[in-house]
Formats: sequence, C-alpha cells, structure tokens
Amino acid sequence: MTQLSPSDDVAHPPDFHSRPVRASDWPAIEALHDVAFGPGALTRAAYRAREGQPRISPFCRTVYRAETIIAAIRYTPIRIGGTSGPLLLGPLAVAPAFANQGHGRRLLAESLEVARATGIELVLLVGDPPYYARFGFVRAPAGRFIMAGPVDPSRILLLEMNGGVDLKGRFTGRVTGAA
Ligand SMILES: CC(C)(COP(=O)(O)OP(=O)(O)OC[C@H]1O[C@@H](n2cnc3c(N)ncnc32)[C@H](O)[C@@H]1OP(=O)(O)O)[C@@H](O)C(=O)NCCC(=O)NCCS
Repeated sequence: MTQLSPSDDVAHPPDFHSRPVRASDWPAIEALHDVAFGPGALTRAAYRAREGQPRISPFCRTVYRAETIIAAIRYTPIRIGGTSGPLLLGPLAVAPAFANQGHGRRLLAESLEVARATGIELVLLVGDPPYYARFGFVRAPAGRFIMAGPVDPSRILLLEMNGGVDLKGRFTGRVTGAA
C-alpha cells in the first residue's frame, strides 16, 4: 500500500467536495453507517466512550457529490486517564458504491491535517491496522489505554501527532468521553 502522510495533496476528484459535518447531515450519515456497517453495528463496546457525547464535533467531516453524502468521518473528543485533548476517531464510512476510490484516505488525511493544525496531540481508534498504518497509526502499547468495553487489543491504534515527543507520561489510562 502507498504511504500517505496527512500533508500530502488531498485534492478531491471533480464533482466531489468535503466540508465539516453539520447537524442537518446526521440522518444522511446514519443512513450511510447502516449501509456501510449494517444496521446496529455501531453499538460495539469499543466505542462506548462515544455514548452520551455530542454526535458532531468540529473535527467531523464529510465528502459529498451534488447534495449526496458519500463518506463521513467522526471524531469524538475524549479524556485519557482523566486528561482531555485527544480525539477518538470513528466511524469512518464510505458508501459501498464509492469504495476503493480513495475517498476514505483523502477524508482521513484531510481531517487529520485539520486536527494537527488545531493542536491535537493524539488520535486513538479501534480499527484495521493495515488500513490506518499508512497514516502513521501504530498499535497502542499493551495496557496503555483502558477502553470502556471488551476490545481486541491488537486493533487499538494511536497516532501521536508530534511523534509523541511532548507526550511523555501523559494520556495513559481509562478512555472516556470528554463532554
Ligand atoms: C474501510 C473504508 C473506510 C475504506 O475507505 P475506501 O474509500 O473504500 O478506501 P480507500 O480508497 O481509501 O483505500 C483503498 C485501499 O485500502 C484498502 N482497504 C480497504 N479497507 C481495508 C481494511 N478494512 N483493511 C485494510 N485495508 C483496507 C484497499 O484494499 C485499498 O488498498 P490499495 O490502496 O492497496 O489498493 C470503506 O471501505 C468503508 O467504509 N468500509 C466499511 C466500513 C468500515 O469498515 N470502516 C472502517 C472502520 S471504522
């Protein structure tokens, strides 16, 4: 797979555009989640940290063509070990009809760039390591993060925006929503 860093060119193909998610997008995004993951699939224990949190944060972003949303990424501000600042990434969903056309990776790169520019130091997710590795996500050290439900530890991935140099000793422990 090609290595893609968040600062690479993430221009969208003609007719496709991206923007931050608006409250009025939510029904379309829920429908996208149903078609991408199957109805109800997002109640997974791994994401209990999102429960009770606002559905939309300033980091959530969507790709659309004409008026139709075809991809969306959600970020939830979290606390780790009681310290706020990091984001929990997920879900990322691309409509099946538009899969494998680069929409997921462009949306990821673009939204991570926004997070980095905003001063976010760490992004956490539970997902497939091969997909996220190209953005610099690595497996979390065993025991560093305590998720609010059972989760395969090999799928807990983290991206330290600044190579982790400023994070020594911070952001370790229980993962909860920040709101
Ligand atoms: C997974 C998903 C987000 C990828 O987005 P996409 O726009 O279809 O994919 P992209 O065009 O960005 O990337 C395609 C590449 O990623 C690879 N890929 C896609 N899904 C993958 C996965 N789950 N694990 C590893 N690699 C994956 C493809 O094989 C392809 O590889 P290549 O570049 O070597 O050809 C999208 O297919 C999707 O929404 N799937 C269903 C929901 C899901 O599983 N979401 C991710 C977890 S939150």
